[in-house]
Formats: sequence, C-alpha cells, structure tokens
Amino acid sequence: MADADGMKQAKDYGLDTPQMSQGFHVKGMGHADWGMKNRLSRIFNPATSKTVMLAFDHGYIMGAAAGLERLDLTIDPLAPYADALMATRGALRSCINPAHNKPVILRASAGSTVLKDDMSHEVLGVEIDDAVRMNASCLAVQVFIGASGECSSLKNLVNAIDSGARYSIPTMGVTAVGKEMERTNRYFMLACRVLAELGAHIVKTYYCEDFEKIAAACPVPIVVAGGKKLPELNALKLAHSAIQQGAAGVDMGRNVFQSDCPVGMIKAINAVVHNGFTPEQALDLYETEKASLLKEGKR
Ligand code: 5RP
Repeated sequence: MADADGMKQAKDYGLDTPQMSQGFHVKGMGHADWGMKNRLSRIFNPATSKTVMLAFDHGYIMGAAAGLERLDLTIDPLAPYADALMATRGALRSCINPAHNKPVILRASAGSTVLKDDMSHEVLGVEIDDAVRMNASCLAVQVFIGASGECSSLKNLVNAIDSGARYSIPTMGVTAVGKEMERTNRYFMLACRVLAELGAHIVKTYYCEDFEKIAAACPVPIVVAGGKKLPELNALKLAHSAIQQGAAGVDMGRNVFQSDCPVGMIKAINAVVHNGFTPEQALDLYETEKASLLKEGKR
C-alpha cells in the first residue's frame, strides 16, 4: 500500500467503553437487516418514531381523482412537509421531482379499477428491479381479507415481501376496504395481524373503534389512512386519536390534497403526529397558514 509508512499511530481503542448497542426506534424491527433499518429510518423520523406519509396513489384505481388532476402542481408544494411519498411509479416518473429526495413507498399492486364491483383480484404490478431503480424505500401491496381475491392478494403480499427482502426493501401491507367488505374493528384486528404475521413491515389500515387494541396486537407499526375528505377539524381529530392510541403515523391523501389549503393541512397533521398538538391547536395552525398563503395569493 502506498501509505504504509509514516502513518499516524492508532491508539483510541476506548478500552473502558463497551461498543454501543443501540435499540431500534421502529416497532418490531429490532432484528431487521441494516439496509432495511436504514430505509425504515428514512420513513419513520428517528426523533419521534413516527411518520407522515403523503398518499397520492389513488389514480391507480380511480384515474384523475379530485385534487390530483395535475400531480405536478398538487404534490410539488406538499412534498417538503411529508416524511414519505406513497405513489405509483408512473406518477413519480412523470410528475415528481426526484430532487425532493423523499423516501418512496411504491404502490406495487395493480389490476383493477373502481369500475369493477369486486376489486379484490390484483397482481403485483412492479418488478423488484424497477423498484430498486426507483430507489423505493418500501413496497405497498393491497390485501383483500375476506373478499374473493383474499388468497391471491395475500400471495401478492408474500411475493413482494420475499422480493423486497433480497434488497432489504420493506413492504407495507394495505388493508383494503372494498364495497362488499366489512369495516368493523373485528375485521381490522384480524386483517392487521394477518398482514404482520405474513411478514409485512408496516401495516396501513383505517382508524376505528378499539383501535388501541388493534395497534397493541399488531407487532409492527400501523399507519392510518384518512379516507374520504372530512372537515379539517375532524381529520385532525382522526389523526390525533390514532396517534394517541398507538398508530406510528398517518398515510393520508384526500384529507390533504382535497383541503382548501393542502399545505396548511399537511403542516397541521405534522404537528399532531410529531409535535403532540391537539386537534384544536393544529386547526389554529392550519387557519393561520391558510390566511397567510391566501394573502400571498397561494393556497
Ligand atoms: C388505497 C390506498 C390509498 O393510498 C389511501 O387510501 C389514500 O389515502 P386516503 O384514504 O387518505 O385518501 O392505500 O388503497
């Protein structure tokens, strides 16, 4: 080696200090591989162990949903305030600036649209090589527990978990709520646990009665979807209750991008998730932000 001679002598071995053995801040992931922990740490803020995911993958079943007609215009101002972006590869590649450098939760299941009554027959719609090219930090796969496509959707989930594991990419299992499917706490309790038992690293579900028990019985982090657009205070109450009862974050879409002031709303949700704001305090933040953006002619 060229510099073998005359090098500074190594002497700081810290002999009195045992090597640091750190715990890991994401629930149930203490035994995961380094790469997976690194990706999960991009999604879940290590300071709070929580996350605000911005979901805008709706187009994969709904086409141009209200608020997402122009992905470029809608998402660009919101991305800086999200911890992670959940989207399809088509939306990301065509409309989202990679320089936002936010971890991507890549929608990896596909195969039906809202035109079908039974949407439970999906397939895996992204090869793992492409997920790697997209620098995905997580794959997202919809699972239809109790529907006619239950078995094939569970197979999609485990296939994604296996492919992702080869590259230390975690998988988020998404509990679907189809037209014919139950939305009871009993249903969500079963669905969340099944997804985690099959190896999902994150579970996305809906807030419901007895959520505290559902979160306790799910050995990996749960993030809650927002669902249909609610009045802002109600959406903030939903996020607050979910966090108070054990959710590790939110994965919200319509309640952000369909709000009168999407930037104000994502900032308010952030304050609830990461800073312990009450829904009322967060609503104040939202109103202040909305007023100031209106003054600047923005929203
Ligand atoms: C549907 C999804 C969507 O991303 C999610 O439902 C969107 O969030 P929101 O319900 O808050 O609009 O995973 O399978």
